[in-house]
Amino acid sequence: MQSNIILIGPMGAGKSSVGKRLAKKLNRKFYDCDKVLEDKTGVAISTIFELEGEDGFRQREAKILEDLMQLENCVLATGGGVVLRAENIHLINSHGITIYLKASVNSQIKRTRHDKKRPLLQTQDRHATLEKLAQQRNPIYEQLADITIDTDNQSISASIEEITNKLNSTNS
Ligand code: S3P
Repeated sequence: MQSNIILIGPMGAGKSSVGKRLAKKLNRKFYDCDKVLEDKTGVAISTIFELEGEDGFRQREAKILEDLMQLENCVLATGGGVVLRAENIHLINSHGITIYLKASVNSQIKRTRHDKKRPLLQTQDRHATLEKLAQQRNPIYEQLADITIDTDNQSISASIEEITNKLNSTNS
């Protein structure tokens, strides 16, 4: 179990919370792509969207992913839109075990109800926005996943337990 563990999935699936605690449990370093980008630029993701548009953000996101993929033995949480670029998909595919944290739109809405930071969620109709993103992206998450965890009806601890069990059975 030496390669990277890469968490993918939509906003509000719990990639950062699960990733942080999973890394601790497995005694690995944890990196959150969005956080690394914010630390590097010194500004919030929303500011990057404001100044450079989504396209500018995606370019920066791809570069951060490329940098992080040089590491080994880490747990990485990616942003929900990372699967929009073919080069990112290729990187994720070739640099570790990919875990898809799955969440229904209803769960996403509940979990992100107080969110003011994610630019794509600052819309009139969050439900319609998330549905549209899910239709576009869920098939790609599914295709990329080595392991899929349905987070809808379980706690973060339960998801972590399911992941470690599945990782162990993958390795045995
Ligand atoms: C995005 C998801 C966000 C962040 C940005 C765009 C997306 O990350 O990268 O706001 O396109 O789904 P999380 O999935 O960690 O919320």
